[in-house]
Amino acid sequence: MKRYFIHTFGCQMNVNDSLRMSEVLGKLEYRPTPVAEEADLIILNTCSIREKAEDKMLSALGRYRTVKLARGTLLGVGGCVAQQEKDKLLKKVPYLDFVFGPDSIAKLPDIIGRVQGERERVVETAWVDSEEYVFPRADPETSRGKVTEFVTVMKGCDNVCSFCVVPHTRGREVSRAFPEVLAEVADLAKVGVREVTLIGQNVNSYQGGVSFAQLLLRTAEVPGIERVRFTTSHPHDLSDELIEAFRTQPKIMPHFHLPVQSGSNPVLKRMRRDYTVVQYLERLEKLRAARPGIAVTTDIIVGFPGETEEDFALTLELTEKVRYENQFSFIYSPRPKTGAALKEDEWGPVPHEVKIERLERLQKIQRRISGEHTASQVGLEVEVMVEGHSRYNPAKRFGRTPENRTVNFEGDAPAGAFVKVLVESATPNQLSGKQTVVLSQPVVVPPADLPGPDVSCVVADVA
Ligand code: 5AD
Ligand code: SF4
Repeated sequence: MKRYFIHTFGCQMNVNDSLRMSEVLGKLEYRPTPVAEEADLIILNTCSIREKAEDKMLSALGRYRTVKLARGTLLGVGGCVAQQEKDKLLKKVPYLDFVFGPDSIAKLPDIIGRVQGERERVVETAWVDSEEYVFPRADPETSRGKVTEFVTVMKGCDNVCSFCVVPHTRGREVSRAFPEVLAEVADLAKVGVREVTLIGQNVNSYQGGVSFAQLLLRTAEVPGIERVRFTTSHPHDLSDELIEAFRTQPKIMPHFHLPVQSGSNPVLKRMRRDYTVVQYLERLEKLRAARPGIAVTTDIIVGFPGETEEDFALTLELTEKVRYENQFSFIYSPRPKTGAALKEDEWGPVPHEVKIERLERLQKIQRRISGEHTASQVGLEVEVMVEGHSRYNPAKRFGRTPENRTVNFEGDAPAGAFVKVLVESATPNQLSGKQTVVLSQPVVVPPADLPGPDVSCVVADVA
């Protein structure tokens, strides 16, 4: 029996792609191993959103070279770096056996066959950016024992944000037909999944036969599904219809990840984000009126070319005004062939020390605000869907509130149960407490062991 190991970098799209890879490899009689040193095949599923992600991949490759030398392991690179670098990657990394893009996962058996049989070094990075693209259908058995799952609804991105490499690595938007999405959700519900997150780089412009709001509403009606989430959205096509869905369907969870990127209009303009701060705030206000208490999170880029101290102060101001539940903030990293990278000298690069200093200031403010949000929950009873055991203490349970707040708690309910938890303490990142009431039991009896970490994918750097 041969063994494989997949090292995953990047976003949830990549994590899902890694799961599809493991399904394909399973049909070739490969089995997963959590130990890279024991693998006959190692795949790095890569991300190129920032330079740091690429650097991590290159250093991981160096480590896996030792495994290859010791036992003849095949080494492949997939994902966004593969799509961008193509055959250049084979030249750069002489011990690499194959390179394949996100659209070539189904071709893995053929690729591996060619590498083994013909001792060929293979590059497969063709894009299928049309409605002919066939989205790999998840095998529901992969999800048995899990209570929350991700379902791909679209791929690619038609926006032109000047900092972003995604249009170069994932191509144009292609939506998955809505009956296919709903069938996958129904399959997942049958094996015990109670919460689904619909994913795509830009879900708000979904065009799979119904609007995205309709897709969410129909997903919420699939028997067995209690919670629906989605990511990620662009503010400019956050429609009134979607906001209305939040008002009418309580199964759509009260959390919205709405990346703003900057609080300064001139910066947003150079980023080609297509909205002003006022327009962004107007959308949020409407959303909050439709679903009071909704938790809002965002992404921020600090040190974008030409960002002045005044621009940055506006980002701090926006952070205070919106009172985000949480922010993912990043230092601007120039990416090959993107508009901002080509104009960086003209707009004025921000020195690295200034970027670091601004990031620290922003994160300090956000930590305080996140802490205030979580502290406000102490003493309350919150509803939690049990997802498994706590990562830090296996004797405790882990789950999330509707607002997507992480909760670690004392209790005995199985994965898939809904419980009330009395919150006893909080940090900016999580709530702690104890189970008080079991609201509902899982529909599908979960395995005796609570779900543990997935051995086939090591998520090193989720964007
Ligand atoms: N540099 C820094 N951060 C970036 N992001 C995307 N491209 C870059 C870049 N070149 C951030 C954005 C995006 C998140 C996924 O990553 O904030 O929303
Ligand atoms: Fe690719 Fe972007 Fe996901 Fe990174 S975050 S893996 S670049 S789609």
